[in-house]
Amino acid sequence: MVCLGNICRSPIAEGVMKSIVAENKLQWTVDSAGTESFHIGEAPHRYSLQVCKENGIDISDQRAAKFYHSQMLEYDKIYAMATDVYENIKEICGTKFDETKVQLFLNDLYRGENRSVKDPWYGDLQGYYEVFDEITKGCEAILVKNEHHATSILP
Ligand code: 4NP
Repeated sequence: MVCLGNICRSPIAEGVMKSIVAENKLQWTVDSAGTESFHIGEAPHRYSLQVCKENGIDISDQRAAKFYHSQMLEYDKIYAMATDVYENIKEICGTKFDETKVQLFLNDLYRGENRSVKDPWYGDLQGYYEVFDEITKGCEAILVKNEHHATSILP
């Protein structure tokens, strides 16, 4: 899950996806990162923390990290939260960019519409509630699309 700062959108996506993975007893490794360096090492934005907490998801252990090109090899799927993020990933990866692995996060929910998760950074708490709801729907669509790749822990 990749956004710009790794403090607003992608930490929510990591938290929600991890909670879906746990509920469904899947063996998926989920992580998040940002394409910009501004906030490296910081905890998620207080409003991201709040909306997750109100929904029973604790993301307080997360710390912002920068996306690096070797993660293109490490992961099967890379979800860009917005079109600018997708372009940044392309630039960071150069010849290592694998377009079969990278997609816009909302494209499983809104097929082929190339929508972006709105950046809540400049807005108020209400924006974070909206982003949380959209991210939750996006994560559920990703689950449905990829369930057949799932290795269940239980028989
Ligand atoms: P995020 O939001 O990409 O969802 O973490 C942002 C956080 C910080 C900035 C931009 C977007 N910034 O410009 O510092």
